[in-house]
Amino acid sequence: MSKTHLISGSSHPDLANKISSNLGIPLTPTQIEKFSDGETYVRIKEKVRGDDVFLIQTLGNPVNENLMELLVTIDALKRASARRINIICPYLAYSRQDRKVISREPVTAKLVANLISKAGADRVVTVDLHSDQIQGFYDIPFDHFVGYPQFANYLKDEDYEDMVIAAPDTGAMKRCRKMAGLLLVPLVVLDKRRVGHNQSEVVRVIGDVENKLVVIVDDIIDTGGTITNAAKVLKQAGAKDIIICATHALLSGSAVGRLEISPISKILLLDTVPLSEKKN
Ligand code: R5P
Repeated sequence: MSKTHLISGSSHPDLANKISSNLGIPLTPTQIEKFSDGETYVRIKEKVRGDDVFLIQTLGNPVNENLMELLVTIDALKRASARRINIICPYLAYSRQDRKVISREPVTAKLVANLISKAGADRVVTVDLHSDQIQGFYDIPFDHFVGYPQFANYLKDEDYEDMVIAAPDTGAMKRCRKMAGLLLVPLVVLDKRRVGHNQSEVVRVIGDVENKLVVIVDDIIDTGGTITNAAKVLKQAGAKDIIICATHALLSGSAVGRLEISPISKILLLDTVPLSEKKN
């Protein structure tokens, strides 16, 4: 009889424990260590031969360490003859590097897809990819879950009045339109320009936000620049209140401080990456 194993990488043990207790499947023990020069070592401490394995490893900070550990663990599982290796990767990093914008750039989202597939993964499960087409970089089954219905349910329960959904850029429009449709409220769009890596500016607001509760829905908060710039511009355009819904709370650098001094009244986040004490 084949068995189902749930294995946690070291990137998000809280999430792995929650999944384990919800499913009533204990986590299969592993040994995850570092050599003194920084190399990653992973050993699966139980037999997995002929079994289905679900490996939970998200790719938040430190991204490259977590990615390498993911690849090493897949290799350990493959060499231990696991039947199917399913990767549960709620935040799939490098998905913002999904195309060449200027010459001599890499397409790192595709490189990551190659690495994960080549290492031996049989399936990838993720949440709110930065762009849907990344699924096409994988030639293995790929399950893409979306976070916006969770936010929509929360906002419905709160029964807010005069609400509009704001897409922080044109890339976010599809997700935001669906969310606005679920809540039966209007959609507005911000015209955002990228001026460098992790730097952006909002040029104008397309739509009416005067005296409205504006809910900005984004996939990622990294430096917080996009969201706080958007909030400032929306306030200037007459928004009454601003709520943020974001799936991946990377909150790098001075993001928390930036959010604290912004005109944002509430931030709703999913737990696709761990929230450190600093972030709480
Ligand atoms: C960009 O297109 C993404 O959807 C996010 O808006 C962006 O990655 C957020 O990054 P930051 O918080 O650094 O502005």
